[in-house]
Amino acid sequence: MSERTRDLPRRSCLSVPGSSEKMLGKAPGLGADMVFLDLEDSVAPLEKEAARQNVVKAINGNDWGDTVLCVRVNAWDTKWTYRDVIEVVEGASERLDELMLPKVQSAAEVVALDLLLSQIEETTDRQGRVGIEAQIETTRGLIDVEEICAASDRLETIIFGPADFAASMEMPVLTGGVQIPEYPGDHFHYVFSKILMAGRANGLQVIDGPYLKIRDLDGLRDYANRTKILGYDGKWALHPDQVKVMNEVYSPTQEQYDHAWDILEAYEHATGTERRGAVMFGDEMIDEASRKMATKFVRRGGRAGLSRSPKDA
Ligand code: GLV
Ligand code: MG
Repeated sequence: MSERTRDLPRRSCLSVPGSSEKMLGKAPGLGADMVFLDLEDSVAPLEKEAARQNVVKAINGNDWGDTVLCVRVNAWDTKWTYRDVIEVVEGASERLDELMLPKVQSAAEVVALDLLLSQIEETTDRQGRVGIEAQIETTRGLIDVEEICAASDRLETIIFGPADFAASMEMPVLTGGVQIPEYPGDHFHYVFSKILMAGRANGLQVIDGPYLKIRDLDGLRDYANRTKILGYDGKWALHPDQVKVMNEVYSPTQEQYDHAWDILEAYEHATGTERRGAVMFGDEMIDEASRKMATKFVRRGGRAGLSRSPKDA
């Protein structure tokens, strides 16, 4: 049902191993905007095949509310991908919103998934189209990210995978997705920006990947702020405690939300009633670009459930 989810919030994207029936059972109640049931790296090779039916059972049997519901299949360079897709999409109800494709190396990999999905949907008379989330986590994938983001109209998000990416780059680190204190700056700044631009140029949501130090919530908050400030929509959570932090970090504050509404109101008055393109608003000049920036805050705040504070009388 990709039309349902294209614009839903994905501040927190919770990873749930498809081999753990216990975790699959708990996942719906944890407050994540998006949940993905994993068949890839959190599932051991010997459990891969059994995990497919666990995931189908969890999709069909649990009440997922409004959560964006996704399954991460294995990458095309394994032997599991095609059966993951067929067993999951044929077995899952329409409640399955999307599939996540990891380690995407080229646009052709997205096209291959799109074609396979089209055949399954036609054969099974599926009403909604299954969306695609693509992970960029190899050097080849990053080089081709612009073509990848434009490869299919099923794409809803592009995601950075810092752990696999560090391995693909042969960076001398042993923990993925955390700050490296010895590096004078942000070692992923270029990567974050490149993925963000490619995603936005194609109308996609853009998501940051995992932070592997699960107990370090302050470090997580600090690190997540980087991609939040650049403009990312959300970040993965590997644990319920991380969900709460992500929902907070990737939502505008009430003050920002109210300020954005004030800008929109002042700008509308200026362009409409006063017929002026640029006016002073407090001690700053606002114009059409300010309207665009404010609109993003208002949209994100609305998605996060904020409403405008009443004006003082
Ligand atoms: C996520 O899949 C990562 O590799 O960081
Ligand atoms: Mg990965």
